[in-house]
Amino acid sequence: MGKTNRFSNEDVAWYLTERLRREKKTQQRIKRVRPKEQLAHSGSVASGKPKRLNHLEIEQGVDRLIQATLEKEDLLKQIISDQAVASGQKTSITQEEILDALEGVDVMDDLDLRALTHSIGSTQGLEGSMVRARRRLAEVESGIADLISRKNIAKAYEDHITRKVSVIRSARNVKSLQTLIEKCELAHMELLARRNNENVTLTKADNEIEKKYALIRQKALGRIDDLMGHDEIYYEAKRRRLLEYRRQLLNSGFVETPSIREEVMKIVSHSQLGIPVLLRGHLGTGKTEIALHVARKYFGYEPEFISGSEEATKYDIYGRTQIGVRPEKDRIREFEHHMREYIKWNPDAPKGELKEVEKQYYQAIVVKGLTTSFFHYGPLVRAMREGKPVIIDEMDGIPHSIIMRLNHVLTRRAGDTVRVQENGGDDIIVKKGFTVLATGNIKSARYKREELDAAFLSRWWSSDINYPPRQETYEILVASLLDKRGNLQIKNSDDLDDLKRLTEAAAEIQRIFAGEQVDYFGEGADAAREIPASLKKSVLSLRHLWNIVRPWKARNFDKPLENYVLNEFIKPSVIEDQIYLVQLFCRFRFFKTWKVQEFGIPGLTETKVLAFQGKQSGPTAQ
Ligand SMILES: Nc1ncnc2c1ncn2[C@@H]1O[C@H](COP(=O)(O)OP(=O)(O)OP(=O)(O)O)[C@@H](O)[C@H]1O
Ligand SMILES: [Mg+2]
Repeated sequence: MGKTNRFSNEDVAWYLTERLRREKKTQQRIKRVRPKEQLAHSGSVASGKPKRLNHLEIEQGVDRLIQATLEKEDLLKQIISDQAVASGQKTSITQEEILDALEGVDVMDDLDLRALTHSIGSTQGLEGSMVRARRRLAEVESGIADLISRKNIAKAYEDHITRKVSVIRSARNVKSLQTLIEKCELAHMELLARRNNENVTLTKADNEIEKKYALIRQKALGRIDDLMGHDEIYYEAKRRRLLEYRRQLLNSGFVETPSIREEVMKIVSHSQLGIPVLLRGHLGTGKTEIALHVARKYFGYEPEFISGSEEATKYDIYGRTQIGVRPEKDRIREFEHHMREYIKWNPDAPKGELKEVEKQYYQAIVVKGLTTSFFHYGPLVRAMREGKPVIIDEMDGIPHSIIMRLNHVLTRRAGDTVRVQENGGDDIIVKKGFTVLATGNIKSARYKREELDAAFLSRWWSSDINYPPRQETYEILVASLLDKRGNLQIKNSDDLDDLKRLTEAAAEIQRIFAGEQVDYFGEGADAAREIPASLKKSVLSLRHLWNIVRPWKARNFDKPLENYVLNEFIKPSVIEDQIYLVQLFCRFRFFKTWKVQEFGIPGLTETKVLAFQGKQSGPTAQ
């Protein structure tokens, strides 16, 4: 058997620096003489022996080397991707050519500028940018080569990489330990579910296994604490977590934060016991997404989906008989088949008889057999037959009479039979894997919903889904602004502060909307009569936060976040809520220098704006 080569961190670091050094040598062989300005750029001396570097210079050299290596990677990627786009767009002309053309024409002339307008494609300027990128790449590469040729810098860089590799490895270990804990929790729940389904109590051996799971969990948590005690590992683990959120957002648009994971674990443990789960909560807390996530990640299925918000009839849930039209060629094929069969069984039939049979078959099969009926199973029955989860979304939007029929189905286990009246009383055998997850709003005057009766509800395990904690919302939003290396793509540090205050404002608005917080000083409140300010229909949930942050990012943070808050959230809200929303955002230091006309909100006066901004004392402005 061949020997396996193992590389230590030091080997990896050596390899990385050595390879750069070698790159430098080959480059020097190709280009004997390099322009002076490039030497100046890399901070080297143009001729003679390199001077001794002091500590600070070495540190700066390593920094530049790290930056240059990253820039090189980016440039290469940019060139490759631009190349790919540009190769399909040979006809586009450069920006310079357009500028020249505009300089050259006199618009008063009887000229047709359409040709010029047509040639401006979205890939305009790519060629120019590729040329610039290549030029910059050459500079960066020679800068790298130059830095790495300095022994002190190369050695310090090597040390830096070694340290980094070890921090990364430790941070990865944190993640592995967390996954280990997660697996133990799932295994523990599965064991309980299995014994429950078998209707037996835990055996002695089971108890031993349980004890070990608890011990592993405890030990793993201890190790995580040890590792996270080191600053560098802590930050790297955090960075990796945000990158993991970013990956989840790109893959599924859904992030499993710690609080969501905790909720998910509870849901899975009940579902595994065959108990239907109802997720209740206010607008946009994430109920539907959590149900979908549980079905996909923990049960491994794209679930069947019943939407209660649309007109749901029992046929939409159980199924319906459908009339189908059969194509003519199918009907003729069937007719010919029947004729052949007839001749086969009646070989001596006289011609006249055959003519008569042919006429009858033709009439029955080809002419009248145009339509056919078959039973099309609805999502609930499909889920039972195929052993899948079914999500009944916004269950309280489904008429009461239909919902009550679900009673019969809810607690069916694998192997049970269910009769479907819609299909002439057919028996369906429930397959393993069938689970019911439902969502609904919190009972309140705000949601005009069917009231689910107590007997029906008692069959469910219900859980109230709250808006994610502020810190988690913040992390999800930050993750959406990271590039693949974990660097934040914002214009300046104020933007990050704005984002933080946006999540604070969101948390406040959510508390007011949910009635968890009373505000006697808000717009529309009447403290004397103990009437607090209220939001009729508007809540700043993650759904709305995405509506604000995504366009902000898409337009490259061109304007401060508050512009997007106004245009993507406050203005699309119902009129009754708009002024109070402006006031709430002002409390979180948004719109600090805005003038009343910039808002364009009916009923919002200058006095109010000044009062909201704290520039005018006195009672809430009138
Ligand atoms: N964990 C998450 N990660 C990323 N985005 C999320 C997450 N949870 C919710 N969202 C976003 O918030 C939006 C609202 O979530 P969802 O539709 O599940 O809420 P809901 O409680 O079902 O709302 P409603 O009461 O209106 O039905 C989603 O469209 C999604 O974009
Ligand atoms: Mg929903």
